[in-house]
Amino acid sequence: MSQASLTERVSPCSVRGFVHSCVSSEFDREGFGEGEYRYFAEPFPEAVTGLKRALYPRLLPVARDWWTRLGRETPWPDSLREWLAMCHAAGQAKSTPILLKYRAGDWNALHRDLYGDLVFPLQAVINLNDPGVDHTGGEFLLYEQRPRAQSRATATLIPHGHGLVFTTRDRPVESRRGWSAAPVRHGVSVIRSGQRFTLALVFHDAA
Ligand SMILES: [Fe+2]
Repeated sequence: MSQASLTERVSPCSVRGFVHSCVSSEFDREGFGEGEYRYFAEPFPEAVTGLKRALYPRLLPVARDWWTRLGRETPWPDSLREWLAMCHAAGQAKSTPILLKYRAGDWNALHRDLYGDLVFPLQAVINLNDPGVDHTGGEFLLYEQRPRAQSRATATLIPHGHGLVFTTRDRPVESRRGWSAAPVRHGVSVIRSGQRFTLALVFHDAA
C-alpha cells in the first residue's frame, strides 16, 4: 500500500471555512512548482485539529509496523500531543498544516515533506473542491522509486471532501532479500483550468 483513501470525517470540507484561518501566503517559483500556500495560525480550525487527532492513532500502528519491518526505531508515542512535544524539544516547532491553492498553469514538483530529523512517515491530503467541475488537471501524483527497477507513478483525482493518506518518506517493500525501503515522492500535475484547493496534514512539525 502506498496510498489509502480516506472518506470518514472529512466530507464535506469547505474552502471558505478554512481561508480566514490562515495567516500567511507566498508564491513559490524556485524549484517547487507554482502555487500558493498558506500556513494555519493557532488556534487551528477545529476541522484541522480534529482531523489530526483522529488520524494519528489510526496511522500510528501502520507507521510502527512499517518501521519495524525496515529495522528502524519507532520513536512515536501514543498521543499526538506527546509526539509534537518531542518535535518542539528537538527544535521542530513550526506548525505544518497548510492550505494549498493552485490556479490554471500551477503545479507542484515531486518532493517529500521532511522538515527535520523527526519524521512521522504518513501524511494526508484532503481535497476541498470538485475535480472536473472546479478544475481540470491537478491530479495528485505519487512516484515510487522501486529497488533495482524503474520507478512507478500513480495519478489520482481526489473527490471533493475526500482524503488520501500516503507516505511522507518511504515504505517497506518485500523482496527475496527481505524488506527494503522504497522512497516515495509526491506532487501535483499541471492544473489545466479553474482552481484547486487542498488541505495538507503532516504529523511532524518543522524546524
Ligand atoms: Fe507536500
